[in-house]
Amino acid sequence: MPELSVVIMATDNEQRTVLQVLVDGTSVARTAHTCASFPVAVSDPITRRVQAANPDVLMVDIPADNPSPAMRAIELLHQELPDCAVFAIGNLNQPQVIVNAMRAGAREFIERPTTTTDLLEAFVRLTTAQRRVQKEGLRGKIFTIVNAKGGSGSTTVAVNLALALQSAHGSSALVDLAPLGHAALHLNVKPVFNLTDATRNLHRMDSSLMESFMTRHSGGLQLLAGSSVPAAIEPSTTEFVRLFDMLVAHYRYVVVDNSSRLDAVSRLVANLSECVLLVACTDVASLWSAARVQQYLGETGGRERLRLVLNRFRKVPGFSESEAENAAGVKLLWRVPNQYFAISSSIDRGTPVMEQSQTDIARCFSGLANELTRDDINVKREAWSLFKTV
Ligand SMILES: Nc1ncnc2c1ncn2[C@@H]1O[C@H](COP(=O)(O)OP(=O)(O)OP(=O)(O)O)[C@@H](O)[C@H]1O
Ligand SMILES: [Mg+2]
Repeated sequence: MPELSVVIMATDNEQRTVLQVLVDGTSVARTAHTCASFPVAVSDPITRRVQAANPDVLMVDIPADNPSPAMRAIELLHQELPDCAVFAIGNLNQPQVIVNAMRAGAREFIERPTTTTDLLEAFVRLTTAQRRVQKEGLRGKIFTIVNAKGGSGSTTVAVNLALALQSAHGSSALVDLAPLGHAALHLNVKPVFNLTDATRNLHRMDSSLMESFMTRHSGGLQLLAGSSVPAAIEPSTTEFVRLFDMLVAHYRYVVVDNSSRLDAVSRLVANLSECVLLVACTDVASLWSAARVQQYLGETGGRERLRLVLNRFRKVPGFSESEAENAAGVKLLWRVPNQYFAISSSIDRGTPVMEQSQTDIARCFSGLANELTRDDINVKREAWSLFKTV
């Protein structure tokens, strides 16, 4: 592994010194320059000094009490030094800071107090990812499916959308985030490992280990199965960030069955997603819940990425789709027809409706997959990058 050159930016003198000792202690990186304040503009002398150091990694310490100047610095320097990887250092108990840092351009979020091992692992991930990016290009997209209310059809939509993406483009994965995962039952596969095993082993995760946690469906779709018992200890939001970072590095499309979960993880995953599909039915309770869910997810940003999917849809006299959009406060993207017999028997048999090609319901899910990937056809994987790769 070549030696990486690092610039450390921390307003706290002690933290700056600690980070320098830790970086130099990894023996795979050395500190080229340190900064005691954050740049505010391109013309700022600090920006020029960082540019002159030409680092492989810029480490930005985010003060817990006032993160904004650090965020601006990440955004600015990520733009000015597109070939430099930004590592943010901060508190894990501030999920919104993690998301903002990632969105501003950080590719790693490392916990404070930091250890040499944390840094070493991040450096190794960086060089491995750089090799892979050089080899095969860019990163995948996440589509998250969220229920307006329990039983609205999140798993049906997630499973069939993932199968449609796999069949059209290959390289697709389905991640089951439900408190009790049903996706394996819908697909009739028997997972040996699940999400809990994957998050427990993140510290040593690489592509081949990740593949070993996935369960392969006959058509090639890879499932990261949900837990079959409610998790005793939930993984942290940072662990989920790492997991999804690995997934988008590996798969072209990642579909997430978020089910009815509403917590820091669902907000985080919604924020990391290209599009969040809110599945609702056309009854009053479902649309009322859809409005509450969109409010909850939208509070942490990304309201513009939310789209409504009306499931069990049938035309009802006196009911218009714009009324549903207004009630839910989300723009309508797709309708899935009401086909109780076809869908419920496919779940019971473990043969998803997508496998019954030439049926209206299979065409409906292929259409949804096409709609979501419409812009990818020309730009291919370049369209979007979750963590703004180097
Ligand atoms: N388009 C549809 N038409 C008719 N019935 C449907 C449709 N989609 C789903 N269903 C029925 O609704 C039930 C719930 O579906 P599904 O398991 O996908 O919901 P869910 O939102 O994932 O539930 P949970 O809240 O348990 O996660 C199933 O039994 C299925 O038969
Ligand atoms: Mg479900």
